[in-house]
Amino acid sequence: MVIKKICCIGAGYVGGPTCSVIALKCPDIEVTVVDKSSERIQQWNSNKLPIYEPGLYEVVLKCRDKNLFFSTNINKAITEADLIFISVNTPTKLNGNGKGRAADLKYVEGAARMIADIAQSNKIVVEKSTVPVKAAESILRILRANHKKGVKFQILSNPEFLSEGTAIDNLINADRVLIGGEESEGGQQAIKELSWVYEHWIPAEKIITTNTWSSELSKLAANAFLASRISNINSLSAVCEATGADISEVANAVGKDSRIGSKFLQASIGFGGSCFQKDILNLVYICECLNLPEVASYWQQVIDLNEYQKTRFTKKIVELLFNTVSDKKLAILGFAFKKDTGDTRESPAIYVAKTLLDEGAKLHIYDPKVEATQILDDLTHPSFTPDPEGVRKAIEIYDDPYQATAGTHAVVICTEWDEFIGLDYEEIYSNMMKPAFIFDGRKILNHDKLANIGFFVHTVGKQTVYKAVNGF
Ligand code: UDX
Ligand code: UDX
Ligand code: ADP
Repeated sequence: MVIKKICCIGAGYVGGPTCSVIALKCPDIEVTVVDKSSERIQQWNSNKLPIYEPGLYEVVLKCRDKNLFFSTNINKAITEADLIFISVNTPTKLNGNGKGRAADLKYVEGAARMIADIAQSNKIVVEKSTVPVKAAESILRILRANHKKGVKFQILSNPEFLSEGTAIDNLINADRVLIGGEESEGGQQAIKELSWVYEHWIPAEKIITTNTWSSELSKLAANAFLASRISNINSLSAVCEATGADISEVANAVGKDSRIGSKFLQASIGFGGSCFQKDILNLVYICECLNLPEVASYWQQVIDLNEYQKTRFTKKIVELLFNTVSDKKLAILGFAFKKDTGDTRESPAIYVAKTLLDEGAKLHIYDPKVEATQILDDLTHPSFTPDPEGVRKAIEIYDDPYQATAGTHAVVICTEWDEFIGLDYEEIYSNMMKPAFIFDGRKILNHDKLANIGFFVHTVGKQTVYKAVNGF
């Protein structure tokens, strides 16, 4: 079978960019992205896409309504497709067995049941959502138990390794593409067909094929390794603050060892995002279920250290502001979990905001890409606060960093947006309460320069800078 039509179920952070790039690179394939949310589909068909990702809009504009379609007609898209990606959300379970840790596969299962129900011809079904080891097997069992007469399914695991903020580049210049499938003849044939799609732009030697289990576990393992690097460096940032060593100098020296490498050694207020915490918790849960408690606690420590890092940072803010932030105005610059995205899932900024609000602070929040409604949703969510009305009164959301910082006691940088590096800090200083503090949770600013202006500067992994100006 030559793949002519692809359907992708789930028009989110994974499905949207991935299929846009496939459409761009494979003009001979028709790609339809479907979602049960008509609002989402409508946004994908508009000039304001539902997600912000550098370069994405240009790709969509080039391909939309040519060989790239966004639709709510799930039935038609599944019926016509030769290959179906499942890229629905896989949140952490909120209730029941494995609550707070195991992946909730209800959306994956829903998508599989839908495919079984609708498909009238053979399909290759590709699991693209981050899902725990053995999810492909569950999909397979659902499909094979419910298939229509004469309809055959092949299930592949093809995890997505894109990072938000650089998704288009990650997809176009992928380090590798990983495809896992059954060892049977049919499985190997399906792997070949999906490889052919990627070979439109990815060199064949970068396409790795494995069994299904290896593919699924590799995705969890890659995220666990990456997150553990951040927890490694963050743990040492605490030692730096206590000793006078500088974590940037340490990271530079350590990273120069080619066995270690220099990437992902940026100390911060802790990692966020929809993947790291979720995937590691998932790995921990799987290890516990497999009766491997030592392995479970080894990886749990990566999460615990991340919690510690977030707590340490906010404690420091309160401590330096004379042990009280009650009724003080603080500016939060950056709410997304990293720069170049409007995504706030598991953003450390949410934790920082919560702790400061619990301490009675008034927050002025500014982020260049996160919508005000999203910030409000995050901070008034029932899992976040029992008193949404109180929170609403304690926060103000701005669309300008100068207005957000005016009249505040402190500026707290929670996201490493480039825009924050170029702000006029002299002006910001002149409009703030004195003494004026900056807490740089992302280590992006020039701290000596800020101290010379008159700020008290605290950052991660370095002793606090107090320069004797203005009588201090
Ligand atoms: C180490 C550091 O590599 C070196 O930079 C430092 O100066 C001294 O300590 P060494 O202990 O001599 O050097 O050997 P190394 O190659 O690092 O191996 C240490 C242990 O790890 C060995 O038992 C080795 O077998 C094991 N190892 C290494 C693995 O099990 N897997 C690996 O991938 C690498
Ligand atoms: C991650 C993986 O990188 C990607 O391969 C996988 O497919 C999905 O999960 P993403 O969550 O989009 O991607 O972003 P990433 O760049 O990995 O950053 C995750 C978090 O770690 C962010 O909060 C970021 O600010 C933080 N981080 C990253 C650090 O604190 N320090 C670093 O050195 C790098
Ligand atoms: P991710 O980051 O994994 O891409 P998102 O939450 O951004 O996750 O996107 C997942 C999308 O999948 C959502 O837009 C959701 O509406 C959609 N979705 C979930 N289940 C189904 C389903 N059964 N049919 C169609 N779309 C679905």
